[in-house]
Amino acid sequence: MWGGRFERGPAAIMEEINVSVEFDRRLAEQDLAGSRAHAAMLARQGIISPEDGEAIVTGLDQIAAEIREGRFAFSRALEDIHLNIESRLAQIIGAAAGRLHTARSRNDQVATDFRLWVRQACARAEAGLAALQRALLGQAEAHADTIMPGFTHLQPAQPVTFGHHCLAYVEMFARDKDRFAAAAARMNESPLGAAALAGTPFPIDREQTAKALGFDRPMRNSLDAVASRDFALDYLAAASIAAVHLSRLAEEIVIWATPSFGFVKLSDAFSTGSSIMPQKKNPDAAELVRAKIGRILGSFVALTTVMKGLALAYAKDLQEDKEAVFNGADALDLSLAAMAGMMDDLTAVPAKMRAAAEAGFPTATDLADWCVRELQTPFREAHHIAGAIVKRAEELGVTLDQVPLGEMQKIEPRINKAVYAVLPLEASVNARVSFGGTAPVRVREQIAYWREKLS
Ligand code: ARG
Repeated sequence: MWGGRFERGPAAIMEEINVSVEFDRRLAEQDLAGSRAHAAMLARQGIISPEDGEAIVTGLDQIAAEIREGRFAFSRALEDIHLNIESRLAQIIGAAAGRLHTARSRNDQVATDFRLWVRQACARAEAGLAALQRALLGQAEAHADTIMPGFTHLQPAQPVTFGHHCLAYVEMFARDKDRFAAAAARMNESPLGAAALAGTPFPIDREQTAKALGFDRPMRNSLDAVASRDFALDYLAAASIAAVHLSRLAEEIVIWATPSFGFVKLSDAFSTGSSIMPQKKNPDAAELVRAKIGRILGSFVALTTVMKGLALAYAKDLQEDKEAVFNGADALDLSLAAMAGMMDDLTAVPAKMRAAAEAGFPTATDLADWCVRELQTPFREAHHIAGAIVKRAEELGVTLDQVPLGEMQKIEPRINKAVYAVLPLEASVNARVSFGGTAPVRVREQIAYWREKLS
């Protein structure tokens, strides 16, 4: 491609470090789309003849078929996907192929291809998140009043419903979806026509190619167009945050599925056995999702580090952008699919959740609140009274609502039998009707809100 100035081919190790076609062949479809748009524009602008324009597009169509059908012979000697396609085009249509690269450089070409790819990755992430939200919503609907312990510090805190817990993740994944949508909208400008870095003297029409590729507009600065990869960082940042949320849910599934908790049963389809211990059913999928954050955040850190301190405009460092994004995207797509499958398939065990909630005295706050409301006790003092009653319940080996009135009155003589109305788990949950609270009426409202939004 650049034989004019060169007397020798590259050293073997030079080819080894330079070659990218093994991974950037994933941009083939985007590269072909970019070239089609560019060729059509060149012809329409009279920069190349209509016949050459048509020959190029026909040749690109043939290449598309060859790649789709696995018949395309990728060559490492041709470095990257761009030169592989251009060289094959020359074999198919001859000299006209040489006109395709008029008013274009691989620098704006690769930036365009990659934006198109990452834009699609954003759409995939949004769809994957929506599927996961629907799975969580299904569980929330089934368990709007299934009581479980709500935790702080992983210690039983106050009773909540499993539906409420599931909806917390629906909210997180909604924000993740927004982040991908915002990233996709921001990156939707076309670098094509920036050429190597400075633009081109040919009378190109960048609006035309931008529109043909579904971009909102051409990028305004040619240096920025070829040098920037913050669109890829945007994607990986959104992916990293989504992966954080996925890893938290994964960790909870691991905890819930352990027999000591037993809050959920994972389906056989999403568990594995042990090669030595016959009784085992392991939550491998959840564990792997929990771990994938390593790859995804690792990709973000890797690409941020590549970009840091890089002088404008293009430098070959930028070739390192692709594997980071591909690795991160593969891990994210897989994690989303696995998590949606697990959430769809898992069976909640309300009896276990309830037993764990009972054991943790989680209505102690309700007891303190009752003293504040009914006896006008200052909250700090009420907290002390309720604490003493919890201690007594523990000694007696009973739940809070089973502590005899006489025992309570030894601690606070003014307590009367009306207190028992606030001590059952249901009473506690039903009372939390503040907006966003765990009361089943509120949870059902939120379910209706999300049903509508996700339909
Ligand atoms: N394979 C290259 C990349 O991914 C394409 C751009 C090459 N441009 C250049 N000036 N060498 O970045």
